Amino acid sequence: MGRAVKISGTGSYLPEKVMTNYDLEKIVDTTHEWIHTRSGISERHIAADDEATSHMAAAASRNALEAAGLKAEDLDMIIVGTITPDMVFPNTACFVQDQIGAKNAFCFDIEAACSGFLYSLDVAKNYIANGAAEHVLVIGAEKLSSITDWEDRATCVLFGDGAGAVILGAADEGTRGIMANVMGSDGSLYELLNVPGGGSRFPASHQTVDDRLHYMKMTGREVFKHAVRCMSDAAVKALDKAGLTVADVKCIIPHQANARIINAIASRLKTEEGVVYMNLERVGNMSAASVPVALDEAVREGRIKRGDIVLFVVFGGGFTWGASVLEW
Ligand code: UT7
Repeated sequence: MGRAVKISGTGSYLPEKVMTNYDLEKIVDTTHEWIHTRSGISERHIAADDEATSHMAAAASRNALEAAGLKAEDLDMIIVGTITPDMVFPNTACFVQDQIGAKNAFCFDIEAACSGFLYSLDVAKNYIANGAAEHVLVIGAEKLSSITDWEDRATCVLFGDGAGAVILGAADEGTRGIMANVMGSDGSLYELLNVPGGGSRFPASHQTVDDRLHYMKMTGREVFKHAVRCMSDAAVKALDKAGLTVADVKCIIPHQANARIINAIASRLKTEEGVVYMNLERVGNMSAASVPVALDEAVREGRIKRGDIVLFVVFGGGFTWGASVLEW
C-alpha cells in the first residue's frame, strides 16, 4: 500500500500541422465519410520533420511542471511511454531530461504500445507509494507519423502525433489519489498489431525496407473485438478493486482509438451521458499519448474537479491493456 499518490499537474502538446480527412483523400483511396463513420476521426496533428518524440514530450512536460508548481530539478524520475522513441537508444526519457534540465532524475522508457502511459503511471505510483521517489514525471508521447504506412489506407487514416505529461507525487492528507490499477497482457496475439522491422528479428536491411516492415501493421476488425472486451473487463476490475461502481465515476478517459470502440465500452459499462471524454475527432489515435493529452484537455476545460472519481482505460499492441481509478 504505502503512501497515497496523486497527479499534481498535467500538460500536453500537439504539433502545429493539422491533417484533415480531406487531405488524406488526396493520398490514399478513402473518403472523409468512411473515416468519420468508421472511426469518429476528422483530423489529426502531424509533427514537423525536425520534431522528434522527445521534443513534443519536453513541451508537454514544461506545461505539467508549471501546473504542478515544480521545477525540473525537483524531479527524481522520468518515465516515457512510447513506441516511437527518438532512437533505439538512448531512451527518450533521457532526451527529455536533457531538454528540460531535470538533472536529478533517472530516466527510462516503457514500451507497452497504447497502454504505455498507464503502465508508466503504475510503475511511478509504486515508486512514490513506497518512498523511493518524491516527484515523478510520467509522459505518453508519440510520433506515429514516423511509423505510418502512407500507402495503407486501413491504418494511415487513424493515427496522429502528440504528447501528454503528468507529475505524480504524494497525496495530501485525506486525498485517496490513485486508488486501483489493473494491468494485463497477452503476447500470443502480437501478430494482430505490430511493427515487425527494425528490431532483432528483422534488423533493418534493404529487404525490410522494400517489404515495408518498418510500418505499423494491424488486423483492425480483430483488434476492435479484443479492445472492447479487454477494456470493459479491466474497467470493471479496477472499479471493483477500488470498492466503487461505475455510478461513482465523474469522468472516464479511454484510449482514443475509435469512437465505436469507446461507445461499445460505454454501453457495456452502462455509463451516463457526458461521463466519457472523447477528443479523437480532433487528434486521432496517438497511442501512449492519447490518455494524457485527453486528461490535460479535460482538466483545463474544468471537466475534472478535486474529489472527482476518474477512470482511465487503455488497450494496445502486445496485446496490453489496463485501467486506473483515481480520486482527483
Ligand atoms: O490503438 C490500438 C488499438 N487499435 C484499435 O483499437 C483499432 C481497432 N480497429 C478499428 O478501429 C477498426 O477495425 C478500423 C477503423 C481500423 C476499421 O473499421 P472496420 O469497420 O473494422 O472496417 P474493416 O477493416 O472491416 O474494413 C471494411 C471495409 C473493407 O472493404 P471490404 O473488404 O468490406 O470490401 C476495407 O477494405 O472498408 C475498407 N477500408 C476502407 N475504405 C475506405 C479499409 N480502410 C478504408 C479506408 N477508406 N481508409
